[in-house]
Amino acid sequence: MQLNINGRNHNVEVEADTPLLWVIREQVGLTGTKYGCGVAQCGACSIHLNGEVVRSCLLPVSAVKPGDRIVTIEGLSRDSSHPVQKAWAELDVAQCGFCQSGQVMAAAALLRKKPKPTDKDIDEAMTNICRCGTYHRIRAAIHRAAGTKTAAADVAADAGNTTV
Ligand code: FES
Ligand code: FES
Repeated sequence: MQLNINGRNHNVEVEADTPLLWVIREQVGLTGTKYGCGVAQCGACSIHLNGEVVRSCLLPVSAVKPGDRIVTIEGLSRDSSHPVQKAWAELDVAQCGFCQSGQVMAAAALLRKKPKPTDKDIDEAMTNICRCGTYHRIRAAIHRAAGTKTAAADVAADAGNTTV
């Protein structure tokens, strides 16, 4: 079958029930998308399918239709210039980094739908798990990317400084 990933067509030969995550990683060689739980709970495997964020670890490759557009972290921008990627770097969001590609993909999908999200919007949309607990910086970076409020307060709170 043929998959369009990050704007390029890839011909892959896989069983129909192979999870899309493994096709992306093993067949196509794009390893920025991570395997965490394997049961659609943690979000480490998040990608965009036709602009919607999906968890690729449980999605069978056969669910991808001809003409569907898959975007992985490698294709979000050519040079890490997506506003979410820039905000992530500016606020030094990542700790171990394992969950972060999924977090960035989820955040980018959120901002496409809601360019000016509230804290509530962010909390509802960002259900990805971070075992390092970078949630405050994730929220702050989303606000930074959106040009909305509370980034400074969130970063200060994450650093244990409640005076800002
Ligand atoms: S690996 Fe897919 S949601 Fe955890
Ligand atoms: S940065 Fe380590 S799991 Fe999120």
